[in-house]
Amino acid sequence: MDTQKLNLSRRQFVLKSTKVISAASLAPVFAFSGNTKESNKTRVVLVGTGSRGSSSWGKELVGPYSEFVEMVGLCDTNLKRAEVAKKLIGTKAKIYHASDFDTMVQQQKPDVVIVTTVDCFHVDYIVRALELGCDVISEKPIATEADQCQRILNAEKKTGKKVNVGFNVRFMNESMEMKRILSSGELGKIISIDYHEHLDTQHGASYFRRWHGKIKNSGSLLVHKSSHHFDLINWLLEAEPETVQAMGKTAFYGSNNKFRGKNCRNCEFTQQCDFYWDMTKDKESMEMYADCEEVDQYYRDGCVWDEKIDSYDTSSVQVIYNNGTQLTYTLNAFLPYEGQYICFSGEKGRLDVKLNYRQPWEVEATLEFRLTKNSESSKTWTMEPDDGGHGGADERVKDVLFKPNQPDPTGQKAGSRAGVLSSMIGIAARKSIETGRSIKIADLINL
Ligand SMILES: NC(=O)c1ccc[n+]([C@@H]2O[C@H](COP(=O)([O-])OP(=O)(O)OC[C@H]3O[C@@H](n4cnc5c(N)ncnc54)[C@H](O)[C@@H]3O)[C@@H](O)[C@H]2O)c1
Repeated sequence: MDTQKLNLSRRQFVLKSTKVISAASLAPVFAFSGNTKESNKTRVVLVGTGSRGSSSWGKELVGPYSEFVEMVGLCDTNLKRAEVAKKLIGTKAKIYHASDFDTMVQQQKPDVVIVTTVDCFHVDYIVRALELGCDVISEKPIATEADQCQRILNAEKKTGKKVNVGFNVRFMNESMEMKRILSSGELGKIISIDYHEHLDTQHGASYFRRWHGKIKNSGSLLVHKSSHHFDLINWLLEAEPETVQAMGKTAFYGSNNKFRGKNCRNCEFTQQCDFYWDMTKDKESMEMYADCEEVDQYYRDGCVWDEKIDSYDTSSVQVIYNNGTQLTYTLNAFLPYEGQYICFSGEKGRLDVKLNYRQPWEVEATLEFRLTKNSESSKTWTMEPDDGGHGGADERVKDVLFKPNQPDPTGQKAGSRAGVLSSMIGIAARKSIETGRSIKIADLINL
């Protein structure tokens, strides 16, 4: 592979980009960290100026973190969307087409490249940014295929630059509470974990309207979505996954309906479709997506019944860890309520965690905990998420990444290995679904 340029043409995204990456010749590797910069602020560029990029890594970064961060470039395959993002973020950063990524890095000399593109393209920007001498912050999943994960690990090793992955779930109140209990040793060694992800027809369907519904873009929800959950378990256990087996199917969305259209705004079945979404009522989505459709035909209100949808909406995965713990994980994306049920069964007791995010009944609290010790009574307590993005987690992750001298006693800041291990569980699960066999992660990647 030509490492002198981003390899976008290899897997053009469903959204057609207007230009293909240039064969820009590239030179020098900048020495950013601890260098001769005039300002102490971290210079960042953002690649992928969609909703996540322009919000959590855009507006919520440049304003509140202006003391520490300076945004100096925005990059996307859709320049119209980048213009919308620029306004939304409130930045003077220069806009570049994705094909001019190298030029952006050479001109703007960022310390850090923040990658928030469609999942399958993360790898190209991560590797190229490392080669150009930048550190990287990547949204999850770090990558969607085993060979991509390998490229990232190799590039990091070769360049000495660093990739961090924005695993905000580690920073949620419920996650920190689980970490507190598991680290206390109260449960003894954790023998098994049952983890059930319940996505309702609002949140679950939102993935199937967009690029996430196609495995080639997202690696399936087992990579796109579950990488959060697999990372959480890897982090809580402080152990690494070894063997994975799985079942999965598209049993609800995709071809499982009699009618379908191209997208909700141009559909003849709006009256009879339970999933009709009137996007015209959402001003921000209209500006960010509908007004930019002519460039790349990215329909944000795509049809959940698209027959090309192949990402599983129904899946179950089993993982064996190198410390012997067994994980049983399920994800269903078409449920009448939204939340999670996670149980840790240890030698000395069991922790039950119920996360009630949205349901058509009254709950005592959003986050419910029950700790039951063998032969002793059971203790329950509740918590609430904090205000802010993802229960305050989006701010906390930026704190450790951008504020100087932030303590990190439980190791919440996640590097490339954590990113790769979480993606690899989903990738191995996919392979298990395809082959009907259990898969050893070490057979797919050289860690
Ligand atoms: N941690 C979290 O809680 C969280 C939440 C949402 C999204 N995410 C992640 O953030 C990323 C972006 O998600 P989103 O919801 O903003 O998606 P989005 O579709 O709104 O934005 C993706 C952007 O990438 C651009 N793009 C597509 N192909 C590109 C390419 N080859 N080069 C450059 N740009 C390209 C698109 O034009 C679009 O602007 C994904 O990786 C997703 O997994 C993480």
